[in-house]
Amino acid sequence: MSESHLELSGVDIEFPTPKGPFKALDDINLRVDRGEFVSLIGHSGCGKSTVMNIVAGLHQATRGGVILDGREVDQPGPERAVVFQNHSLLPWLTVYQNVELAVKRVFRKTKNRREMREWIDHNLALVHMEHAAHKRPDEISGGMKQRVGIARALAMQPKVLLMDEPFGALDALTRAHLQDSLMDIQADLGNTVIMITHDVDEAVLLSDRIVMMTNGPAATVGEILSVDLPRPRDRLALADDPAYNHYRHEVLTFLYEKQKKVESAPATARPETNQTPPAAPEPARAATGEAGRKARETTA
Ligand SMILES: Nc1ncnc2c1ncn2[C@@H]1O[C@H](COP(=O)(O)OP(=O)(O)OP(=O)(O)O)[C@@H](O)[C@H]1O
Ligand SMILES: [Mg+2]
Repeated sequence: MSESHLELSGVDIEFPTPKGPFKALDDINLRVDRGEFVSLIGHSGCGKSTVMNIVAGLHQATRGGVILDGREVDQPGPERAVVFQNHSLLPWLTVYQNVELAVKRVFRKTKNRREMREWIDHNLALVHMEHAAHKRPDEISGGMKQRVGIARALAMQPKVLLMDEPFGALDALTRAHLQDSLMDIQADLGNTVIMITHDVDEAVLLSDRIVMMTNGPAATVGEILSVDLPRPRDRLALADDPAYNHYRHEVLTFLYEKQKKVESAPATARPETNQTPPAAPEPARAATGEAGRKARETTA
């Protein structure tokens, strides 16, 4: 059998807390192929960012580990670029300089000044931010900052692009536009992508596989859904596609039946896998129209 590209095996993590160790993840196992687009979905606090931070090398697993192309991941590296949940640009640098910093780190020995300049411009153009190259982060909108974060990550030509809710804070139009751009870019570059999302539609539209996590503590991989929809994918055409709707339904069933989250439940009544959902109606179910649909179909 060929060696896998990226593999998490038997990953546990315990965080020290004043009340003793807190086991956030328990026995996470996942193999990701080169060029694959994998989404992680699960309720808030289950441990998605923690999984990503372990792959990024920002956290060390307490047990088990991560292998990328035959090498153990034990620290951050430019072959695993991260787009964080909250945009993380350096405020004293311009948009251009933020991308330049990453480009210099990776290409200092292989690109000359002109090639670096062209490469930075090219990546800013990919996310339609070339017009704001000389602005500072506090002069651009949240969506624009997120786009620069994506350009900065892409400009590093990472083997693995790690994205923690990259579009979560964006308005619906910008989000749709960036999802389409990301699909185009990934089709061109063939990067491996691991993306965390709360949005079921986003997960189905973008992913080759959706990894659904159980609720924490001691969260693990609950189910993995392969999304066998042909690419390129068109959001409008897919809206009425029975296969697309089947995949959405599978994810929704996992989140709202099998792993239903009861925020205010007493500790003894923590929801377990396959537990029957409580009879009380969810407030979001009562909502109608697009807002209601969205409320029902994103995890909280
Ligand atoms: N450094 C830490 N020390 C202690 N507990 C932590 C630490 N980091 C995360 N946790 C806990 O681990 C669990 C998983 O957190 P994580 O941030 O990975 O969740 P998440 O799935 O990304 O949530 P969200 O969807 O809200 O971003 C949570 O209970 C969190 O409180
Ligand atoms: Mg998170």
